[in-house]
Amino acid sequence: KRKKTKTVTTNKIKKPVNVAITGAAGNIAYSAIFRVASGQMLGYDQPINLKLIDIEPAMNALKGVKFELEDCAFPLINTITITFDLNVGFEECDYALLIGAKPRMKGMERKDLLKDNGKIFKPQGEAINTVANKNIKVLVVGNPANTNALITMHNAPSIDPKQFTSMMRLDHDRSIAQVANKYKTSINEVKKVIVWGNHSNTQVPDLSYCEVSGNNIKDIINDSWYENDFIPRIQNRGAEIIDARGLSSAASAANAAIAHMRDWVLSANDWLSIGQISNGNSYGISDDLMFSFPSICSNGNYEKIEDVSMSEKLNDYIKITEKELIQERDSVLDLL
Ligand code: NAD
Ligand code: LMR
Repeated sequence: KRKKTKTVTTNKIKKPVNVAITGAAGNIAYSAIFRVASGQMLGYDQPINLKLIDIEPAMNALKGVKFELEDCAFPLINTITITFDLNVGFEECDYALLIGAKPRMKGMERKDLLKDNGKIFKPQGEAINTVANKNIKVLVVGNPANTNALITMHNAPSIDPKQFTSMMRLDHDRSIAQVANKYKTSINEVKKVIVWGNHSNTQVPDLSYCEVSGNNIKDIINDSWYENDFIPRIQNRGAEIIDARGLSSAASAANAAIAHMRDWVLSANDWLSIGQISNGNSYGISDDLMFSFPSICSNGNYEKIEDVSMSEKLNDYIKITEKELIQERDSVLDLL
């Protein structure tokens, strides 16, 4: 007689987490929200309460996004809230994607947005400080992302500054793609890319430690391709897209936001570029800037990689991006 085996299932259902997304009626959010809801950001076993935030005039459009979300019947979605009230949107928030802000148009630099966009992030920081969970993870996408992240962080003094990050992942992924293209290899073969500094045209994409198929390619930085093609292409890729599309990048920005948060929460097996508070860094960068450093994610945390050495030339580039971030900060002192 065949013995019956009993299978014991230990499928523990996770408690829902609260995910706030600002600019939820906008372009990037329209690419991001559905992927977050499907599990691509926090894992396919993590139920989510979605808190979609936009300004009052956008509430009707946001209602349409909610209808579409409902129509997807995502199994991971527990509740969907749409609101323009920051205290409702950020209540008990565990993860926040701060996307809501004006995008630049042709001919503008991202820092030209600071006057209009900077002031969005003060009340958001204050609301996060008051009503969000203290271990919240915040990613700022709205431009200029680094200084907006600094404003948010300053206005949320009860939360560890390390919980605030700004998005450099798009620049990082753009760099990986350009290297893979140059070496006619696949994305997975490219590791240890770094992008330092500001998400602006002063950012410093650095291939000194980059590996292609396990081989260090540091000599590429002496090749004219590196200085004349690669660096300016990455620095100006956002503008290149605006010129082509007539609109700023949206799906690739959403993809980068999801990858940034996913790797922070669930870890990644490569170096990443993360805009983070510069305090106490080993690279001589001034304190109190949201600066992108090479980082590693593990166990729900990210850490700066501290012992990367830099050529004099690279160091000169890094001083330029640092100076720009100091100038941006000095122009919003009233918001800090
Ligand atoms: P969009 O104009 O399509 O959408 C922006 C949305 O934000 C709109 O729905 C608007 O109503 C909303 N909004 C404005 N003020 C708000 C506030 N106070 N609170 C909540 N919502 C608010 O713009 P988009 O294409 O989605 O881009 C959004 C931002 O992301 C821009 O600043 C853009 O430059 C930036 N961006 C950053 C990166 C990056 O790599 N860091 C990449 C791409 C775009
Ligand atoms: C990008 O890098 O694509 C975004 O920051 C949008 C922009 O203004 O370039």
